[in-house]
This record gives sequence, structure tokens and C-alpha cells, in this order.
Amino acid sequence: MCGIVGYVGRQSAAEIVLQGLRKLEYRGYDSAGIALIDDHQALCRIRAEGKLANLEAKLLGLDPTIAHIGIGHTRWATHGRPNEQNAHPHTDESGRLAVIQNGIVENYRDLRQTLRQQGILFASETDTEVIPHLVRYWLNQGIPLLEAVRTTINQLTGSFAVAVLSADHPDQIIVARQHAPVVIGYGDQETFFASDVPAFIHHTQRTLVLNNAEIARLTPYQVEIFGFDGQPVSRIPTVLNWNPVMVEKQGFRHFMLKEIHEQPATIRAGLEGRVSEDPVINLGLSEQLWDSTQQIQILACGTSWHAALVGKHLLEQLAGIPTQVQYASEYRYAPPPIQPGMLTIGVTQSGETADTLAALTEAGSRGDRLLGITNRVESSVGRLVSEVIDLRAGIEIGVAATKTFTAQLLAFYLLALEFAARRHSLQLEQIEEIVLGLQHLPTAIETLLLDQEQTIEILARQFQSTQDFIYIGRGLNYPIALEGALKLKEISYIHAEGYPAGEMKHGPIALLDPKVPVVAIAMPGSLYEKVISNAQEAKARDAQLIGVAAIGDELATEVFDHVLWVPRVPEILSPLVSGIPLQLLAYHVAAIRGLDVDQPRNLAKSVTVE
Ligand code: M6R
Repeated sequence: MCGIVGYVGRQSAAEIVLQGLRKLEYRGYDSAGIALIDDHQALCRIRAEGKLANLEAKLLGLDPTIAHIGIGHTRWATHGRPNEQNAHPHTDESGRLAVIQNGIVENYRDLRQTLRQQGILFASETDTEVIPHLVRYWLNQGIPLLEAVRTTINQLTGSFAVAVLSADHPDQIIVARQHAPVVIGYGDQETFFASDVPAFIHHTQRTLVLNNAEIARLTPYQVEIFGFDGQPVSRIPTVLNWNPVMVEKQGFRHFMLKEIHEQPATIRAGLEGRVSEDPVINLGLSEQLWDSTQQIQILACGTSWHAALVGKHLLEQLAGIPTQVQYASEYRYAPPPIQPGMLTIGVTQSGETADTLAALTEAGSRGDRLLGITNRVESSVGRLVSEVIDLRAGIEIGVAATKTFTAQLLAFYLLALEFAARRHSLQLEQIEEIVLGLQHLPTAIETLLLDQEQTIEILARQFQSTQDFIYIGRGLNYPIALEGALKLKEISYIHAEGYPAGEMKHGPIALLDPKVPVVAIAMPGSLYEKVISNAQEAKARDAQLIGVAAIGDELATEVFDHVLWVPRVPEILSPLVSGIPLQLLAYHVAAIRGLDVDQPRNLAKSVTVE
């Protein structure tokens, strides 16, 4: 979704804002723009369709030292085409007020109608443009800037983050938050804001997340925060435990590849301090959660929804708790009847997915206990829920989720095992055995990455022009088939579908021919023979077979045309290894096709609009 960034201080605002926009590229965008106030108090606005390189080209003639205050925006189009005219910042008719917005102003049609009746001419098709015109209206009534913005914000409905720059106030930026994220950075005689920390982490680690319904005035020397009711709010920034290097590629060609390789470290971090001798698992959640839960529903979208499907299996099979998984976007408009003792879990890497946030809010209003599983505990979801499991995966920048998926799986293993331990649904020895298996995983995955990457790259070359793929798996590995197919779709734009292997003969088998390869996840365990039979059914229809199989599986070499080898792990842990070669396969196909792996077309890292 859109990214917003801004700076006021002593350095070149153009350079800092552009750097910030670069760091927010991962959010997804199709146009960009900046507004600066120069030393003669003139507002200068530059916008461009497409990637940031186009904006940079337009900025070439600009003296970077002319401005020390500015705002910038990457736009992911919602209202109006992704062209220069609709790119932010938007201005009022005087051209002295500039506004950027991330989100949606839902009542913009009514507001635009009223403003048009007052003779205002609109220059874009966007919802955002009503904001500068409204602020100007209130300024014309003699109201000071902060109040004019606050009054305007109170007229808007929807979820948004807004920043306002005025050439008549060249030392301040006003930012406001209604659901969409805004983080403020405190520097030495300089202040930053952005949709996300990577935009300014190279300059300061002292940050504050603006709360919902808060508005702030930023100057180089101070940050004043008020509620939407105008009352001052006292907040203290915290120092982030982030290393700026985390937002660099560190020698990898793409962030996605780096993040795939970070998975052993992600698992180590996820286990740290949570598994020990006595008790075996401790996630630090409240006693009431363990005692009161009779059933569970999990709400999520995309990859997080796939992790939730694995979670359901674990919570039911290990802990004996009936569990449902719902798409958050469906649940929010048709929640099932209220059930007693319901624990609702929201799974979201970003913690900002609009559908998941709305669905959790709905579940909370019905009296459910809320648990969040997120990589961003400071996010909207992190702050909505009463309990949270931190994924501890470190920032993920590639749009395609990889290490956070693995971290979500791990969170579900730990949650199911702690339930199992407390409810005695498994024996202590069984739990200890699974925990031991988890502890061995980082080394096993390191070996997989080292041994398999080259083979997978060669295979990717062979299949780079394939038009359709089918992924199949059973039991715990059915969600991994879905995830493998999603990864391929997202970044290589190749059509791919995941199916429970046993369902193939009920319809999808009709799709098979020599041009449609089938990727079958055939991990050792109770369903192994079944998957092999399903794969053979596909082979009988001339499909090329790619298998994901455990090292030492001789039958796999006979059945499959190509094998992606993974370490042999206990059946229950297989999803933690079987997905990794599929991430690599998707990555290498996309990279070989020369695609923008980290920022695939039309996608955004966190989907903050409905
Ligand atoms: O931040 P979230 O986990 O809530 O995001 C949910 C989906 O938008 C996300 O998983 C999406 O499917 C990714 N592009 C997957 O790679």
C-alpha cells in the first residue's frame, strides 16, 4: 500500500525523503511524488508515474540544498488511475498547501460535491484531494494550521494517515493517524515520520508510533501530540532494538533471497527463551488464556492463512482443541454464531492488514479473547489484542512472505505444544521429542540451503517458460502446497494452483498434460504412500513430476522426474522444511525471468485497504 515519509531539520529534505521512499518501496506502489518548501518559502512539488527512478530523473535539476523540510509519497492506486495527475502530494488551489495520504477517505464523494459547490476545481480523481481544499477552507476562516488540519480530519471517515505541509509554516509538518500506521523518528534537531521505521532507521532509532485518533505537529526541535479532540497527549519515544543493516540486502541479489536464507536464524530466535527444561514451553501468555479456551478460530489472509491451516492441524491433533480457520475478509461480513470459550487468533506478519484488523475487532466486540501472532508487535493488531506472540523474524522486506511464514508455523507449534502440556493431551516425552526436533531444524535447514540451491536454480531454468503448475500435498503438507503455488504466482506471474492431493481425481486431474508439471510434497509419514499414488496418477496422464522428498527416499527417485531434497525430520515437523525448496523454486524462476522479485506487480507488502 502507499508509503508516506517526511523530514524537517538541517539536512537536505529532498535527499532524506527520497531515501525514505526507497526504503518504503517494498510496500508496493505505482507512482510517487515529493513536496518541499525552499528557503524562499515556495512550495515545490515533483511527481512521476511508475518507479522512483522516474521521480529521481525529474529531480536531477533540483539543488538538493534548497529545502530542509519535505514530504514524500509512494502511491498504490485505489481511487483514480496510477498517473502523474493522481500521484501525491495534492495541493490546494493556491499551491501553498501539500498533502499526502495513505489509506482511503470513504466520504470523499460528499466532501468533493460540497467543495465543488463552493467553486473549488479539482485537479485529480483521488479521494485525497479533498483534504488540502478543506484545510484551506478552515485556514481562510482564520483558524491556525494545526487546528485547520484537526478540524478537517474530523470531517473524514475511513482509515488513513495524513501529512500536511504549508509554505506559510516552513518549520512544521502536521501528521494525523486514523488506523493507517505513522511512526515518528526523533533525531538531533531533526524530526522524521513515515509509514514504517525502515524509512528513517539510518538516521535515528528513537521512535514513537502515533496512536489512532492522534495528530502531531513536528518541528526540528519538538513533537507535540494531541487527540482528535484537541487535547494534548503526553507520549515518550522508545529506542528501537534495530540494526540499520537489517534493511540492507547484505550481498544477496534480492531481499527475498536474503530472507529465505535467514530462516535458520528465525527459528533460533523464535525458540530462544521459550523452550527449556521446566516447563518445556513457555510463551509468556496469561493463565486465563490456557484455562478458558474451549475452541479456537484463526483469522488471517494470504500466506498467514496458509500458516493458520497448519496451525489448525496442530491445535486439533496435538492439543485436542476444535479449531476453525477463516479468511479475515469473509469473516468480517459473516461471522459465525457466538461460541463460548472462544479464543480468536489473528495471524498477520505486518499487523496492519485491514481485513484481519477489522475481523479481529469484530471478534473482540463479541467477547472473544484475542491473541495476535505478528512480526510487528507495535502494529495496529499488536495493540488491539490482549495477548501476542512475537514472530521475532526481523523485518521482512520482500513482498513475498518467506521467513515470516516459517516463524508463523513455529509460533503455532509452540502454542499447540504449550496447550498440549497444560492439558496433558500429549505425554511429556512426546512434547520433549518434538521440541528436540524443533531445536535441530536450524542446522538441518542450513544444510538444505547449502546443498539444494544450485540444483533448484538449474530446475528453475528448465521450467522458466512453463505456463501452469499444480502443487499437491496432504495433511500438514496440503497448506504447504497452497503456499508453494502462491509464491510462484506472486513473483513469477505463472499460473499455479495448490490442491489436497486426494482431490485431484475429483476434477483438477482434467487439467493435466505434458505441459503442466505437478509438484508433489511426499514427506515420510502416514500419508506418504497416498501422495505417491496421487503423483503416479498424475504421471499416468503424462504430467512431469517434481517431488519434495526426504533425503534417502529411494522410491522418490523412481517416481519423480526431479526431486527437491529436504532433511528427514519427524512427520509432524515436515511443513517446516518442505516449504523451503518451494520458496527457492519460485524465487529462481522469477529471477531467471528477470522479474522484480521484491516488488511484484500489483502487490503490496501490507494490504491496509479493504
Ligand atoms: O501482513 P499479513 O500477514 O496480514 O499479510 C497477509 C497477506 O497479504 C500476505 O501474506 C500476502 O499474501 C503476501 N504477499 C504473501 O507472500
